[in-house]
Amino acid sequence: MQNSMSLTLSSRSSNESFARVAVAAFIAQLDPTLEEISDVKTAVSEAVTNAIIHGYNEDKNTNVVINVGIEDNEEDNNDNDKYKVTISIIDYGCGIDNIDQAREPLYTSRPDLERSGMGFSVMESFMDELYVDSSRDKGTHIKMVKYIKK
Ligand SMILES: Nc1ncnc2c1ncn2[C@@H]1O[C@H](COP(=O)(O)OP(=O)(O)OP(=O)(O)O)[C@@H](O)[C@H]1O
Ligand SMILES: [Mg+2]
Repeated sequence: MQNSMSLTLSSRSSNESFARVAVAAFIAQLDPTLEEISDVKTAVSEAVTNAIIHGYNEDKNTNVVINVGIEDNEEDNNDNDKYKVTISIIDYGCGIDNIDQAREPLYTSRPDLERSGMGFSVMESFMDELYVDSSRDKGTHIKMVKYIKK
């Protein structure tokens, strides 16, 4: 199966809950477990929050793009009893200078905002794969993969 959806949202914190519910509603067709839904919602929430707070420094007049793709897991012939769900969260904000440092647990550039520096660790632990592509002043593309049993 091949299926996809794409969403463009204004960079407002009030849209964070819509983003995670919209992604959850889209993947509901795969009949995921409650735990799988909750993992995906948590990861989407962290990535969208990061785009708004860090990428755009809370500028509300910008957009966050969310793409979700569903396909059969054909890469691994032994494991095609699973769907591969790929979720991208894209912003066109300030970008991340040092991606390795940003991904470290407890690293935050904004201790003043009482951030704890755990967003990337949360995404990594709740999803099966996490890729970060970013360049200064161009923006950040977070790609996360979750395998969901058929
Ligand atoms: N979309 C983004 N654009 C620019 N910088 C980012 C983006 N996402 C993350 N970062 C940088 O990576 C750091 C680590 O992100 P992470 O989500 O792990 O922690 P945090 O957001 O600071 O704290 P928490 O998520 O626990 O509230 C951030 O402090 C920020 O400097
Ligand atoms: Mg964060």
